[in-house]
Amino acid sequence: MQQINIINAKDHVDEKVKIGVWLTNKRSSGKIAFLQLRDGTAFFQGVVLKNNVSEEVFELAKELRQETSMWITGVIHEDSRSKFGYEIAVEDIEVIGESEDYPITPKEHGVDFLMDHRHLWLRSSRPHATMVIRNEVIRATYEFFNKEGFTKIDAPILTGSAPEGTTDLFHTEYFDRDAYLSQSGQLYEEAGAMAFDKVFSFGPTFRAEKSKTRRHLIEFWMIEPEMAFMHQEQSLEIQEQYIAFLVQNVIDHCKDALEVLGRDIDTLKQYTQLPYPRISYDEAVEMLKQNGFDVDWGVDFGSPEETFLADQFKQPVFVLNYPKAIKAFYMKEHPTRKDVVICADLLAPEGYGEIIGGSERATDYDYLYDQIIKSGLDPKEYSWYLDLRKYGSVPHSGFGLGLERAITWITGEDHVREAIPFPRLLNRIYP
Ligand code: 4AD
Ligand code: MG
Repeated sequence: MQQINIINAKDHVDEKVKIGVWLTNKRSSGKIAFLQLRDGTAFFQGVVLKNNVSEEVFELAKELRQETSMWITGVIHEDSRSKFGYEIAVEDIEVIGESEDYPITPKEHGVDFLMDHRHLWLRSSRPHATMVIRNEVIRATYEFFNKEGFTKIDAPILTGSAPEGTTDLFHTEYFDRDAYLSQSGQLYEEAGAMAFDKVFSFGPTFRAEKSKTRRHLIEFWMIEPEMAFMHQEQSLEIQEQYIAFLVQNVIDHCKDALEVLGRDIDTLKQYTQLPYPRISYDEAVEMLKQNGFDVDWGVDFGSPEETFLADQFKQPVFVLNYPKAIKAFYMKEHPTRKDVVICADLLAPEGYGEIIGGSERATDYDYLYDQIIKSGLDPKEYSWYLDLRKYGSVPHSGFGLGLERAITWITGEDHVREAIPFPRLLNRIYP
């Protein structure tokens, strides 16, 4: 008999199969027991008819406890009444592992309780659906950058550099010297772009930010493309194509997961329409002022400002050319406006905030050296990075997508912690 995963049920209709499952819930009456099951690939129902199985199996079915693991054998049937579309007429049950009283019951649980039990909560349908979408976003990311001719160049996690400023660095010891956990792979991707033209990295990044918001993780994953011989305008086109590609692939491949999460597909479809609007930082400040926000030119936007700006558009919106003083040292100065840099943040609709930060990079050695000094960084640590401006410096641009921010937006979840299997938050490193 063939062992299958229920996700492939459509290929096995009317066949007798064997599936490894856990029990999520059950109900029974005199002659029938309905087992709510999951096999890791989907949630479905097993039907045990008293007349169809031995007496022992029927008694066993009625006594199974939540999360008992077992082999079931039976015949797959199409069932238009079930959400999943298929169910299994159970003929035999073999218990593999008994289950103690399972802490997560079908009743509502508080956030802290669920976070303490994240290792078990992942089995539930909602986090399961979110992780299915996370997986699709990662798969589609590789597909997109491969089809666009990018080479994946992995950046180190332990570094001596601080591309995004020194305030939120995770310090560690590296034998007899200091090191930090990577805030961003960007500087290494720039080296990669000079060797491979178009590159990207995908890896964990760390920010010791003392912020406890629904957008901040301490450890998050970033996708960082970097393109040689490319100015910012072309980079923005790649960014919007990439985001639209992610959303379209989630729509195409994750219908069930989106339904579990209650995410409206027509809303998502709007986000596949290109181009995305572009406004300058200057315009953004004006829009905010006219609508009663107390902002002066030069400040960085907080969550209320970003939400307001995004609400003015139906798609994600690029905010271009922020003040130099509030952006990273490596950004290229605007040729005619010395007080701004050539950069863009992409703000997601519906209050999800910045999902991409990117810029054109400074190409001039002396300018960059000066910026490093002005940012309080040690030029010795950046001497390799400065080398990239000594040997055939070219215009180049790149960006970083925060994976969990993007997933939170696409899934419509209300907190970024839901977008990663084991979130690291200000006060949480367990489990
Ligand atoms: O804007 P950031 O800091 O940009 C960089 O790190 C650049 N070096 C990227 C590049 O150009 N290669 O971070 C990029 C993105 C943000 O737009 C946001 O989506 C996400 O990373 N991000 C976070 N996500 C979750 N928790 C945090 N604490 C985050 N900080 C940034
Ligand atoms: Mg940013």
